[in-house]
Amino acid sequence: MNYLIGIDLGTSSTKTVLFNENGDVIASAGKEYPLYTPNNGWAEQKPEDWRDAAIETISKVVKESGVNADDIKGLGISGQMHGLVMLDENGDVIRPSIIWCDQRTGKECEEMTEKIGAKRLVEITANPAMTGFTASKILWVRNNEPENYAKCRHILLPKDYVRYILTGEFATEVSDASGMQLLDVPARQWSDEVLDQLGIDKSLLAKVYESPEVTGTILPEIAEKTGLSTSTVVVGGAGDNAAAAVGTGVVEDGKAFTTIGTSGVVYAHSGKISIDPQGRVHTFCCAVPGAWHVMGVTQAAGYSLSWYLDNMGAAYKQEAEEKGCNVFELINADIEKTPIGANRLLYLPYLNGERTPHLDPDCRGVLFGLSSMHSKADIARAFMEGICYSLTDCRDILQEMGVKADDMMACGGGAKNTIQRQMMADMYGCDVNTVTATEGPALGVAILAGVGAGLYPSVEEACRKMIHKDLDKECKPDMDNNVQYNKFHKIYKNLYNCLKEQYKEIAKL
Ligand code: XUL
Repeated sequence: MNYLIGIDLGTSSTKTVLFNENGDVIASAGKEYPLYTPNNGWAEQKPEDWRDAAIETISKVVKESGVNADDIKGLGISGQMHGLVMLDENGDVIRPSIIWCDQRTGKECEEMTEKIGAKRLVEITANPAMTGFTASKILWVRNNEPENYAKCRHILLPKDYVRYILTGEFATEVSDASGMQLLDVPARQWSDEVLDQLGIDKSLLAKVYESPEVTGTILPEIAEKTGLSTSTVVVGGAGDNAAAAVGTGVVEDGKAFTTIGTSGVVYAHSGKISIDPQGRVHTFCCAVPGAWHVMGVTQAAGYSLSWYLDNMGAAYKQEAEEKGCNVFELINADIEKTPIGANRLLYLPYLNGERTPHLDPDCRGVLFGLSSMHSKADIARAFMEGICYSLTDCRDILQEMGVKADDMMACGGGAKNTIQRQMMADMYGCDVNTVTATEGPALGVAILAGVGAGLYPSVEEACRKMIHKDLDKECKPDMDNNVQYNKFHKIYKNLYNCLKEQYKEIAKL
């Protein structure tokens, strides 16, 4: 039997899974690490923590599984996107990585737009200048830490730094590189025009591969440390969403997924490139060679519910403790008893500003229509509905662009919640399914590794064989509910328009 390893380098932890060639989990291991916020709106992590987590978890799965190292044919890495890793001439880390959710680069985004032009930037990179993306972070280091910039010889993304540790190669691949805002996304190669305008030397960047291509093999010293073989190939891998797409079989036109983690993403595969000129959704290369994906992002999806729980959910927490049950069992039971529209209460989930559809760092959360009759159950339902209205906004834009998102899968923590899945199905007006395999991004990059190692002929073929819908969990839309939700969604959308200017005003105070 052949085996494959998928590493999922997330924001809270790294998870490494060893699969057999049928996609069955043989062993898995995880390791958490901290996130540092040295300033309001900043977010950093230590690349050395990612390195140590990868080596420790690989060693664990190899040891626990007891499989012969030579039978592990390939390894793929999925990573949190957009993070900036800078290395010096010796390959040593210069400063902590500025990661995807860091918001310090407002000025640098203006600088980028001024230098390249808003329209041209969207034409080349498929996105307007984004604070979260890598290019503005590079300019920030150049503007604010010139001594660090002067030492920099290599710029890598988080998962590509781990690849460098494992293989010694400076390489990246199209899906993650799309989030750097230095890639010509339609042409799938670095943009000389953007690099020239921004004054960034191309030699700092890694070689760009397609996601299933082989980028190197395991270094002897890493083989020694982890128990891997030096003949195991390491493929391009993918950014976390593109990897989740492969892991849920979203690799053909019409297929889409919604994930609810900290943020929420509505992602649709697209065989031809499709760019929203207003930049409300991201267009990136996907992990299927020659194809793209379009995705909308809700900044605070699962995060809204955990915020609710931490700040307003003390009574639920106490009851759960007394009854010895999961707090979401209690919340779900209450949400089920509460009518659609939460007794005329609406929640706008803009706790951390919003990407889709507003692209507005200043907007903030709203609980609208609060009355003395409302209970904690109404508020919980309003929160869950608000998250789903925002995800519906994302899907509506995809549909408006002609990118089909009818064959919808649900993944991430939120997908485990039946009520939330049914709410999505009712609001979207289409079936919402899950897959039997729950390893998402790790399985996705293991499949890419299998293609690179020659075990499967193509990503699509591998997904057809290995990814199956969990038909017991299928949610069919109730179209009467859809009509009800639409009425509230219309008011939800109007609320942002009414508040848009006020958000700017209050941000100035
Ligand atoms: C995508 C994005 C997140 C990060 C972290 O644009 O910002 O999905 O990759 O998970």
